[in-house]
Amino acid sequence: MKIVEKVIPTPGNQYKPKVPFVATVLENRRLTTEGSVDDIRHILLNIEGSGIEYIEGQSLGVVAPGEREPGKNHRVRLYSIASARKGDKGDCTSVSLCVKRVIYTDEKGTEQRGVASNFICDLNVGDQIQLTGPTGRRFLLPSDGSVNLIMVAVGTGIAPFRSFIQHVYHERGQWDGKIRLFYGAKTGMESLYMNEESNDIGQYFTNSTFEAYQALSQGDEKAYVQDRILEAKEELWQMVKGGNFSFYLCGMKALEHSVKEIFTSWAKADGLDWEEMLKNYKEEGRWNIEVY
Ligand code: FDA
Repeated sequence: MKIVEKVIPTPGNQYKPKVPFVATVLENRRLTTEGSVDDIRHILLNIEGSGIEYIEGQSLGVVAPGEREPGKNHRVRLYSIASARKGDKGDCTSVSLCVKRVIYTDEKGTEQRGVASNFICDLNVGDQIQLTGPTGRRFLLPSDGSVNLIMVAVGTGIAPFRSFIQHVYHERGQWDGKIRLFYGAKTGMESLYMNEESNDIGQYFTNSTFEAYQALSQGDEKAYVQDRILEAKEELWQMVKGGNFSFYLCGMKALEHSVKEIFTSWAKADGLDWEEMLKNYKEEGRWNIEVY
């Protein structure tokens, strides 16, 4: 039986590329501290009057202005919603995104800038932005608050988990199941929502049901999120084997493979077939992956 919320208020894709909702920027705040090479931003948008009722785990599309070729608009880029359903303002009139400015060097050695992410990161308060969606019917919280939640993320993959955590502890007020967050960043400067720029997630660390395990890949004690998962094996494997859990992984594609290897080896050590277990867990909506 599926464990996710059955009711999605807006049944997806309310706004389409040809008829997007034009939102206004209320805030554009840098989340990576001074000195970090990465420019990652918290973008607060006014969606008042849109009729959009998103829930945690959904995404919005952004259509950057301009054309990719004559007569063709830019393609929609998806961004995970980083706020809980009532929004950061608490009155259902806003939505937040967590966006990394994409800059890379192409094969000719020329610096390239991602179309949508640079457009978003350069927005000023009062500017307009075209939104599509909301989309996503799978990466959702269970309705039963006694389910243990396991969240794994790197980088901007933290966005839906900010939304989950704010919803369960702040909007909903209580979650009886355990919440375990495994988060990887380069250094503390890039630890989104858990550093001196913003402590939106850090503020819940003292909650008795919440534990966060951070891995800094360029810190003094260099570690990856996989290392933290391995260290927490006893509790994690008990939760997963026991079946009362919902697992979420968001962010870098490569992470999915590493995590699969870990669970395959844990299952094998117990004489179990991870592929078989996974099939059931996916059917029940307990195994949720959103990588990009
Ligand atoms: P644009 O599309 O113009 O360029 C990116 C392309 O450049 C890549 O496809 C690749 O071909 C190339 N490229 C990028 N880096 C490269 C490198 N180092 N070397 C060589 N080539 C490179 N993003 C985010 O910041 N926050 C979020 O919450 C989410 N959430 C999310 C959810 C889902 C479901 C999806 C599918 C995707 C996201 N993304 C995201 C990613 C986002 O949709 C988008 O892909 C990025 O912001 C890049 O878009 P641009 O238009 O800026 O780059």
